[in-house]
Amino acid sequence: MKINGKATRTIWPENGGAFVAIIDQTLLPHRLETVSLETVEDAARAILTMQVRGAPLIGATAAYGLALALRQDASDRALADAIALLAKQRPTAVNLRWALEEMRRALADLAPEARAAAALAKAAAIADDDVETCRLIGVHGLPLIEAIAKTKPKGEPVNILTHCNAGWLACVDWGTATSPIYHAHETGISVHVWVDETRPRNQGASLTAFELGSHGVPHTIVVDNAGGHLMQHGKVDLCIVGTDRVAANGDVANKIGTYLKALAAHDTGVPFYVALPYSTIDWSLASGRDIPIEERSATEVLAMTGRLADGSVVTVDIAARGSPAANPAFDVTPSRLVTGFITERGVAPASRDGLLSLYPERNESAA
Ligand code: MRU
Repeated sequence: MKINGKATRTIWPENGGAFVAIIDQTLLPHRLETVSLETVEDAARAILTMQVRGAPLIGATAAYGLALALRQDASDRALADAIALLAKQRPTAVNLRWALEEMRRALADLAPEARAAAALAKAAAIADDDVETCRLIGVHGLPLIEAIAKTKPKGEPVNILTHCNAGWLACVDWGTATSPIYHAHETGISVHVWVDETRPRNQGASLTAFELGSHGVPHTIVVDNAGGHLMQHGKVDLCIVGTDRVAANGDVANKIGTYLKALAAHDTGVPFYVALPYSTIDWSLASGRDIPIEERSATEVLAMTGRLADGSVVTVDIAARGSPAANPAFDVTPSRLVTGFITERGVAPASRDGLLSLYPERNESAA
């Protein structure tokens, strides 16, 4: 997507793969800076500290991180160690494990001297595939927005609520939840996005609002607790969120607070869609109950970072000293609360049968 009019991805190799550039998302929206990853440890740190975040981008970064590792040492041992290091950085987004498994499959049988070049090519292929997959999610999600637009009085936008950042910053380009929105905007449909701020790390306020604004899409930031009220008052036509892991029965893990939005949408009759690439489905998990939920530092709840009038960025305490805090980073929305999945292959009900209708080869492989 575009920043200051320039087409930009979230990750790209430089200097023939000697290093990998990323946008440091911990600095947005106050500073737009790129950082160079030169080693697998750099890539692991970028994932852990959330310089890169969002399920598909975590996967792409792990793939490039493995490519960086193999430039130094392409032995079987180094391959296994680098995969183990990268895999443990964040637990919920299954795209991390998926990307590493794709890499391992492509590399394990090669002679060590062929691995570094092959790893770079495979990481680039994973990144390119994510771009096309996300573009197709937009193509398939667009008719949902078009249908609502036709019911709106002339001049009124389609109001879409989203949670966290499932935009292009969470992927390599386009985004998952935002791809239908960008497609609608580019088609000339009037859209307006309610952006949940998404405490504690504020990915909505800091990232989704930044990227929608950079792309000229009308939007309004709301506190996380506003969604139910907006839905009760007819101000939301449609919710679209992303996901970090979908279990085989259609249960959805996503940023903490997603479940509450799904409950409110269910109660008020607002359609609640989850946009996802195939790499986010964990076919090995029968239900969402077994999805590991990342517990993050209490500091994220007890402090906030922002910009002062003089432009300096500071972190301040927002709670009484000594108060404890808990910080589960994701929750699981049961499939019964999800109207449907928007994927690169089309739209389907959020259920095992719905998933299998999109990915019939999974049925065959289980048989
Ligand atoms: O903790 P984060 O910022 O990595 O969480 C991101 C989300 O929850 C996104 O909604 C999810 O990864 C989908 S990204 C297309």
